[in-house]
Amino acid sequence: MSQTLPLRARAEIDLAALRANVRALRARAPRAALMAVVKSDAYGHGMVPCAKAALAAGATWVGTATPHEALALRAAGIRSRVMCWLWTPGGPWREGIEADLDMSVSGLWALTEVTAAAREAGRPARIHLKADTGLGRNGCQPADWPELVAAALAAEAEGTVEVTGLWSHFACADEPGHPSIAAQLDVFRQMVEYAEKAGVEPEVRHIANSPATLTLPQTHFDLVRTGIAIYGVSPSPELGTPADFGLRPVMTLAASVALVKQVPAGHGVSYGHHYVTADETTLGLVPLGYADGIPRHASGRGPVLIGGEWRRVAGRVAMDQFVVDLGGQKIEEGSEALLFGPGDRGEPSAEDWAQAADTIAYEIVTRIGARVPRVFLNEDPDE
Ligand SMILES: Cc1ncc(COP(=O)(O)O)c(C=O)c1O
Repeated sequence: MSQTLPLRARAEIDLAALRANVRALRARAPRAALMAVVKSDAYGHGMVPCAKAALAAGATWVGTATPHEALALRAAGIRSRVMCWLWTPGGPWREGIEADLDMSVSGLWALTEVTAAAREAGRPARIHLKADTGLGRNGCQPADWPELVAAALAAEAEGTVEVTGLWSHFACADEPGHPSIAAQLDVFRQMVEYAEKAGVEPEVRHIANSPATLTLPQTHFDLVRTGIAIYGVSPSPELGTPADFGLRPVMTLAASVALVKQVPAGHGVSYGHHYVTADETTLGLVPLGYADGIPRHASGRGPVLIGGEWRRVAGRVAMDQFVVDLGGQKIEEGSEALLFGPGDRGEPSAEDWAQAADTIAYEIVTRIGARVPRVFLNEDPDE
């Protein structure tokens, strides 16, 4: 990257790294198909280019939360299997059927709506019945499962649905040895067995997210749904670093230093004056703020590589900018400030920012705002 950036700031998205991450994950789950989870604009990385890169590297499914995200993938020309799971009354079920989406059903209300839409569309809907095996979020409780399975089989008999999947989601797969992992797996096996004995013939059974894909081979079944790991971010520091799993961070967040100036000792910095210079020093202005997803919680703590040194946010992160104390170092306006990236140049990681903001790295990358342009690198899979 040049020292003088043409842009205020940018998020570079290394699609070669994303493809390599997908290949590394496929090698960890060799008997399962891989779904690239690209919800929330691919965790902030750019949904369509990331979906295409993942498919080029061997993913055969893409997954989103909302139907609107899934329909946007179809509108962009993506023809692979596309699954989405966060439905609310009103659908859009018919659009989902006509777009050949795989749609999650967690309860009778959804089955009623999707079968009505299938009758109108004149073709069956592909559905995945979701079991709540212990997460306590979306999904059907074990006590309600027989009724949902029976209703789905009746709909299959009348030709309004095809049950293509049975699935669930973990609560604590990122906490090694957590007792809920084995408990959920046990409940999942029982709920799958019940549905299959009742006559459901799913194409895919799936429960594994990134941490399960990386560390729990017994959870892989027919399909793994990997989100954070395809972006080269570890699901949790407790599990290991990205490098421990052969993954490489995909996003680099950089900004162009907007102003450097000398200030005297005792000078307050940014709103509330929570930082006051100890000595005469130089301050650097970084033109990124909480509107761009820089957490205000990282005020006084977030790390930035500038002029070869790690500096910390001085005082509060504001909406559009924050300040670092350069300790007398004189750098030029337009110099590069690297907030996070793969670490090749000694820059911090998204995980370092997560620690500084007391959150998880998922949130750091996903919240990088729309005002920061994504610059896609290595788009050509043949490179
Ligand atoms: C249902 C479901 N499956 C899979 C994933 C992917 O999880 P991860 O990013 O940990 O791989 C998510 C993300 O939260 C999800 O909601």
